[in-house]
Amino acid sequence: MTIHIGIIGTGSFARLHASIVNEMEDVVIRGVCGRSLEKAEQIAKDYPQAKAYNELTKMLDNEQIDAAYICVPPFAHGEIEELLVERGIPFFVEKPLSTNIEIPTTILNKIKEKQLLTSVGYHFRYLHGTRKAKELLQDCTIGMAIGYWMGTMPEVSWWRKNETSGGQFVEQTTHIVDLVRYVLGEVEEVRADFAKRMQPAKAEINVSDVGTVTLKMSSGAIVTIHNTCILPIDYQNGLDVYTDRGILRLNQQGLQEVNQDEIRDYSNDSSVSPYEKESQAFIHAVRTSDSSQILSTYEDAWKTQQVAIAANQSAELGQSIKLAK
Ligand SMILES: NC(=O)c1ccc[n+]([C@@H]2O[C@H](COP(=O)([O-])OP(=O)(O)OC[C@H]3O[C@@H](n4cnc5c(N)ncnc54)[C@H](O)[C@@H]3O)[C@@H](O)[C@H]2O)c1
Repeated sequence: MTIHIGIIGTGSFARLHASIVNEMEDVVIRGVCGRSLEKAEQIAKDYPQAKAYNELTKMLDNEQIDAAYICVPPFAHGEIEELLVERGIPFFVEKPLSTNIEIPTTILNKIKEKQLLTSVGYHFRYLHGTRKAKELLQDCTIGMAIGYWMGTMPEVSWWRKNETSGGQFVEQTTHIVDLVRYVLGEVEEVRADFAKRMQPAKAEINVSDVGTVTLKMSSGAIVTIHNTCILPIDYQNGLDVYTDRGILRLNQQGLQEVNQDEIRDYSNDSSVSPYEKESQAFIHAVRTSDSSQILSTYEDAWKTQQVAIAANQSAELGQSIKLAK
């Protein structure tokens, strides 16, 4: 059975996901939809059976789409998902779910009503090192963890405004929040301190550029996540977990296990990217209805969004936020 795909968004990640699904057997890109028809045409021209659109309803009316990829910036979520849910079209959506929690809550309720298949682009979950860390942590007492995303300020204008990106913690460091939830369990309480150190040097920016967030986990463990986008280089991102057995250092390259006697490295598989793995899992689920390989659903990602938005609220109010269960 051939799976027909609609790509929504025309930026760097729309291109990435389009190129990945195009390599898959019996998968055909039928439509590319952006705000600008010209940009949609630039992507669609690489795929012989794809047509360009600048209106989602038109694409959905004209093409028989079996599954969609939503690759738009955080501010642009809401209507797109609602249209897909209404028509019962399974979707893969790039993180984060939105700049807020209200829109994802509305969408989640509709997804649950329809029992719609979804997948979210939290790709750290598909790394070999992450899988190995989960396995090793089963036999440990987890004391604490330190997560970090230390880098530069992306050039795109939507990233630099709270209204359009949600800020660094919601837009980018959300990967680390999700990793924490995936390997260490659920979060009970959030406390954040953010600051703007670069302003007023760059007036077109209103996101905080340094921040520290403390998470009290349901297990009793304590996690701090630090982020900055003030650096001149993309320095590092990852999560270090401290246990009664030693230290696990997890990042996009792999996992390092440090204990009393030795240091062991578990490298990630460089032959298949986590982006390919997440798409293989999603397309397999669309084709067979077996969703067991999907590691991040919309419902699960909603909980990551809840933590990230609570961090924004905590920083604004100057107090801890207890999460509703
Ligand atoms: N998983 C990852 O590692 C990863 C990495 C990079 C980006 N992303 C995510 O992918 C998403 C897109 O990022 P990007 O780098 O492609 O951004 P980008 O700025 O390159 O492109 C965004 C595109 O979305 C289009 N767009 C905006 N509103 C739209 C709408 N209502 N309908 C259709 N198209 C619309 C814009 O015209 C633009 O072409 C972001 O949420 C980002 O966080 C994920």
